[in-house]
Amino acid sequence: MTPALSPDAPEPVRRAHWADVRASIEALLEGEDDWVAAMATVVAELHHAFEAWHWTGFYRAVSDDLLVIGPYQGGHGCLRIPFDRGVCGAAARTGRTQDVPDVDRFPDHIACAASTRSELVVPVLRPDGRVLAVLDVDSDQEAAFHPIDREQLESLCALLGHRFRALATP
Ligand code: SME
Repeated sequence: MTPALSPDAPEPVRRAHWADVRASIEALLEGEDDWVAAMATVVAELHHAFEAWHWTGFYRAVSDDLLVIGPYQGGHGCLRIPFDRGVCGAAARTGRTQDVPDVDRFPDHIACAASTRSELVVPVLRPDGRVLAVLDVDSDQEAAFHPIDREQLESLCALLGHRFRALATP
């Protein structure tokens, strides 16, 4: 496990931290072709690597309009999210990252935990553009996510989408 980063870490420290986290994830996933094992491992590594992250998990696309919860860490998440609901649904529907610095200003945010103040949701897309899953990271601090976090999570999700491109998708 990479030790948790303080929310106020300066940018160079955050970048170096991400290099460690990414190296750790790549080492852990080396040769692994099981999707559940990969999601669970990514979530465990990410969740413990950032002090400000209180919920970290995947929602899997099980049809062309429904997400079902996958491996996660933190309190209970909502089990099912249609593509037309919430921040996760928006990421799945549009195939684009949703960066929500203040959930109170996002219409239709689904409050699984009342303490959530900000969220970053990144789609895991296969190279052909179909959505496999979304990675949802929540914080009880407002605007908790730095542009470096977004860049790194997008890069990680691109890696996963490529690695698991052969999975059957709806
Ligand atoms: N907040 C999300 C729902 C998932 S939970 O927070 C774990 C959303 O609006 O999509």
